[in-house]
Amino acid sequence: MTRICVIGLGYIGLPTSALFANEGYEVVGVDVNEKVVQRINEGVIHIEEPGLDEMVEKAVASGRLTASTEPTEADYFIIAVPTPIYEDKTANLDYVVQATKNLLPKLQKGNTVIVESTIPPRTISDVVAPIVREHGFNPDENDVYLAHCPERVIPGNIVYELKHNHRIVGGYTSEAAEQAAKIYENSVDGDVRKTDAVVAEMSKLMENTFRDVNIALANELSKIADDLTIDASKVIEMANMHPRVNILQPGPGVGGHCIPVDPYFIIEKAQESSPLMQTARRINDSMPQFVLDKINKLTEGIDSPKIALLGLTYKGNTSDMRESPALDIIKLLEEKAPGVEFKCHDPYVELEDHSFEHQLYTLEDALADADLAVVLADHQEFKEVMASTFTDNMKTPTILDTRNVYGESFFGVTVHSLTNLVNV
Ligand SMILES: NC(=O)c1ccc[n+]([C@@H]2O[C@H](COP(=O)([O-])OP(=O)(O)OC[C@H]3O[C@@H](n4cnc5c(N)ncnc54)[C@H](O)[C@@H]3O)[C@@H](O)[C@H]2O)c1
Repeated sequence: MTRICVIGLGYIGLPTSALFANEGYEVVGVDVNEKVVQRINEGVIHIEEPGLDEMVEKAVASGRLTASTEPTEADYFIIAVPTPIYEDKTANLDYVVQATKNLLPKLQKGNTVIVESTIPPRTISDVVAPIVREHGFNPDENDVYLAHCPERVIPGNIVYELKHNHRIVGGYTSEAAEQAAKIYENSVDGDVRKTDAVVAEMSKLMENTFRDVNIALANELSKIADDLTIDASKVIEMANMHPRVNILQPGPGVGGHCIPVDPYFIIEKAQESSPLMQTARRINDSMPQFVLDKINKLTEGIDSPKIALLGLTYKGNTSDMRESPALDIIKLLEEKAPGVEFKCHDPYVELEDHSFEHQLYTLEDALADADLAVVLADHQEFKEVMASTFTDNMKTPTILDTRNVYGESFFGVTVHSLTNLVNV
């Protein structure tokens, strides 16, 4: 039976392990976090993702998925560890390097090493291949196969997308692409497209950069419309009647693990030739300040205004707060608006999540006596809230809705957005 060792059991590695195990492969998932390993061996998951619990439970119960803190011998090694950026916005490849070095003692001729982590162009050839070569292998001669197979699932729909999305398999050599593609061809319903490693690396980065640039355009429209007192929501609606135009909705900023990070992997390698990408990053990073300006205008003249921040995650229906613009807005409120008292509510964020140092309130407690509610994530729960929850609890039932959760008329609640004319 083909054995797969998946290194890193987070949002990508855990579902990937379960997918392959449920397709009949013998999978060992490896993580440096002992608690994660222990929980997975009990068939319990440590991340919030619809449908993932059943998928992992099934894989563990079948005996084909086990977890360990150390890599084991395998035919395929899949690396799915974090690739964050440093303060100076360059890629931190330490986790990828460490994971590659850790698997070396188990690596044998004929094995395949696939990096699923998002990586800057030429990481397979300039970082991974030299490590493997130093250990005595020759990936140029295909005694081991190296490949990059980027992941493009969206949190919240990972279980479906993992199975159905098209996959790109970029080989360090064409033989490596063939070899790596086999396990995906056997397991996913989408097309599996083979190419070389650098094309795979760059195409993944361009996907998220495409999205970043388009979001920046919508955000810039929001600012321009504000300056020129034009209703941006109507502009977007009218412009999108054009068959080849799709302007996105503005928002409070871009969060998550990918879109605000991945463009920098290109920018660091091509400073001179990436002005559009750099500008898009700046525009999207400026949105929390734009939201703060709106909060200040909406609370002008109020002594010690009280606001409720609803939704701390970077998007709706997830517990993921990584790079969330809500955290930047909180920081700006603390630094630049010390007179504003704020209370936070998020139905997805657990109180025991120590990465968030502020107190969390129930929706009613956060809204109690508030002058303004600021909606920062479009959670389903917020869409289902009755207007009376705002009118009954708030001092002045006013919402700054940065995610277009509520329509302009909401039964006695005044709703401002980043697109409509708010007279502020
Ligand atoms: N989350 C997404 O939606 C998404 C989508 C596409 C691509 N990616 C990319 O996939 C990669 C992984 O992202 P993620 O969201 O799964 O990260 P994550 O933080 O959820 O999980 C990574 C896991 O790797 C473990 N780890 C770190 N170093 C290790 C090592 N040396 N050996 C074994 N385990 C180690 C960590 O303990 C953690 O459990 C990143 O490059 C990311 O950019 C993520």
